[in-house]
Amino acid sequence: MESKRIFTAQTPSKIGEHVKVAGWVHARRDHGKVMFLDLRDWSGIVQTVVTSQAGLAYEQAQRVRAEWVVEIQGKVQERPEKLKNTDLATGAIEIAIESIHVLSEAKTLPFRVDTDGYEIGEEHRLKYRYLDLRRDRLRRNLAMRAKLNQFIRNDLVSQGFVEVETPIITKSTPEGARDYLVPSRLYAGKFYALPQSPQQYKQLLQVGGIERYFQIVRCFRDEDTRADRQPEFTQLDIETSFTTQEDILNLIEDLYTRLVKQFFPEKHILKTPFPRMTHKEAMEKYGNDKPDIREHKDDPNELAFVFVLDFPLFEWKEQEKRWDATHHPFTRPQSDSIEEITSKPAEQLAYQYDLALNGYEIAGGSLRIYKPEMLAAIFEFMGNTKEEIHNKFGHILEAFEYGAPPHGGIASGLDRLYSILFGEPNIREVIAFPKTGDSRDLMMDTPSAVSADQLKELHLSLIPQEKEK
Ligand code: AMO
Repeated sequence: MESKRIFTAQTPSKIGEHVKVAGWVHARRDHGKVMFLDLRDWSGIVQTVVTSQAGLAYEQAQRVRAEWVVEIQGKVQERPEKLKNTDLATGAIEIAIESIHVLSEAKTLPFRVDTDGYEIGEEHRLKYRYLDLRRDRLRRNLAMRAKLNQFIRNDLVSQGFVEVETPIITKSTPEGARDYLVPSRLYAGKFYALPQSPQQYKQLLQVGGIERYFQIVRCFRDEDTRADRQPEFTQLDIETSFTTQEDILNLIEDLYTRLVKQFFPEKHILKTPFPRMTHKEAMEKYGNDKPDIREHKDDPNELAFVFVLDFPLFEWKEQEKRWDATHHPFTRPQSDSIEEITSKPAEQLAYQYDLALNGYEIAGGSLRIYKPEMLAAIFEFMGNTKEEIHNKFGHILEAFEYGAPPHGGIASGLDRLYSILFGEPNIREVIAFPKTGDSRDLMMDTPSAVSADQLKELHLSLIPQEKEK
């Protein structure tokens, strides 16, 4: 008797052998004298069978219910030809049960886990996400996500890139959204911020000589959630020195082309090299900066990547009556004359680019300003006082005075890319524990109140709300 538990996916190669498998009872079919238990584990499903002649094992099989966790020992046997199930990877065999050991019983689940789950209310699914994750679709999404992350890492490392982790408890970096703040216990009234992206760190890594940086990294933005937006999401973040816009566009184009070819051979990329258009063209022709250039919008296998280039450097903020960066303030203007930039702001273009896929923005980046006097001038032009500039950006301005290489990069929203590649309607389907549309985690029941002691320790007091939400 083999004593080590094996995955159900391994059983077809064990015909004639005694094996031990363990998992959840996916389905139980009682045909009177014959009883079938479909057993599910991470690797898939296998049919197990027991007849009334089996005595104790048959009695045990009668007791178990769907979603109980069991360990089954038995002999792998080939199924009769007409009972083979070609839809199932293990469909040519079954396991003749010799013993069943119940490891955990289960209450009746709040919903079915043997369907794709789209028919179930999402709030319900998210409250019981740990059960929702049992369904095959989500299991495959998570497994594929891990494979693609691994592919990206291997590919970039083989090109000489280094993955560097950057801080999560940090200082506010402007990316256009609201920050999540973390109160400091040691410094009353002071706050850390969770990064909207590692933008400044990756630039400071360039000053530090880490010429080819990447990171698969979590970013945090307190903004309204949508189908393609989560308050925390994952970027493939890249920054390189001594680089050109052309180099960066080619890097991401080649990487994603290889990824699609290897993992999604059934899909076709509309055009390679990826078409390019200026921001102006995109706005005029498509009315937005993430054009959907698919030829057949009902074809799930069409992937239409398109680069959008030459974004305007500034946008006018009517409410605040000032010019602000279209992307972020570190973006390099195409003109290198401060005088020209500040006298004709509306006409200025930036070395800024986005990558759109089927109408979604899946990446954005730019060449950066690396001359401190240019960066300071841009901050000032956008309405910051000298003191504000010093407080908010003094560190990066100073860093640039110690020999900063010309540099640039890009960041790609992996949740968005993967949801499109997997044919999912929203990014929550490719994230293990996503937040709801109104930024709650229903499973953990958060955001939630904290104790008065915790608040006191953090030097915080709450402004009473008129009515609890
Ligand atoms: P940007 O803000 O354009 O650039 O973000 C890069 C990419 O991240 C994805 N993304 C999101 N995905 C899910 N939920 C969100 N809330 C969300 N916000 C953004 C998008 C987007 O294209 N530091 C710069 C990059 C750079 O200049 O190198 C940055 O973060 O796919």
